[in-house]
Amino acid sequence: MTILRKIVIPVAGLGTRVLPASKVIPKEMLTVVDKPVIQYVIEEAVNAGFSEIILVTHERKKALEYHFEPHPELESVLEIKGKTALLNSVRNILPADVRIFTVLQQEPLGLGHAVLCAAPLIEDDDFAVILPDVLVFNPEGDHSVDLKACVDAFRQNHAAQIMVEAVPDDQVCNYGIVDCGDAEFRPGESHDIIAMVEKPAVGSAPSNQSIIGRYILPARTMELLKETQPGAGGEIQLTDAINALIAEMPVQAISMQGMTLDCGSKLGYLLANIKFGMAHPETGDALKAWLKAQDF
Ligand code: G1P
Repeated sequence: MTILRKIVIPVAGLGTRVLPASKVIPKEMLTVVDKPVIQYVIEEAVNAGFSEIILVTHERKKALEYHFEPHPELESVLEIKGKTALLNSVRNILPADVRIFTVLQQEPLGLGHAVLCAAPLIEDDDFAVILPDVLVFNPEGDHSVDLKACVDAFRQNHAAQIMVEAVPDDQVCNYGIVDCGDAEFRPGESHDIIAMVEKPAVGSAPSNQSIIGRYILPARTMELLKETQPGAGGEIQLTDAINALIAEMPVQAISMQGMTLDCGSKLGYLLANIKFGMAHPETGDALKAWLKAQDF
């Protein structure tokens, strides 16, 4: 087992679920309260101890990289005007020891293919994957609690960790679903996965525990991805490579303590703004009061 410091974030997708908003602005750059979605997920990764962020991206999505680079002209204007808080918010987004790497995904061949594009940067290291559409919200305020729990379980149990959350039975067809036999899921607990199925038809799913887009995986996964054939939707699926991994080593589903907000959908994006807006020191009280006063 190697040091866990690398995290792969696939961001090459064209964001068709949130068009026309995402025609020019990458969907990961859409704002939730006062920060783009990508900043939330990278902060989650950094707070959980990751320091090498690998964006698997598209050449039209340069704004994602620019957001984390210095902006000398803006910074000097803020400095001259004495706007220190704003200056810090654009200058020190990430700690100095965190590095962002990019690799292009030339063709949209699936999530498994996107992750495989990062293989030259992963080398022989264990790694994590975050799907950036999904924001994790924790009511206690530290939104990296669940990813930290994943990392701890990976180390303690010597098993890959796949974060899951229960969904209504009629929603299973939108997710990867895990089969853990008759294991009972309590927040923060891990259970061995028997098999995973990508987007099963309603009525045929082995459970309602959905894969939410946080994975801690051994280096071996990259080798298995190289051999993975197109699966559901004709795409190379990460789920299929992890199924192959299950035949070789323990893979566990870890149940969430927080909740997910899917910013890749219109409703999820609105809910993310409400949830994070209610928790934000500048907007929280006023937003809650406004919501309470509405006669819906
Ligand atoms: C991907 C994964 C799926 C997972 C989902 C979470 O699907 O393949 O297993 O449940 O993300 O959002 P996608 O939404 O990219 O089709």
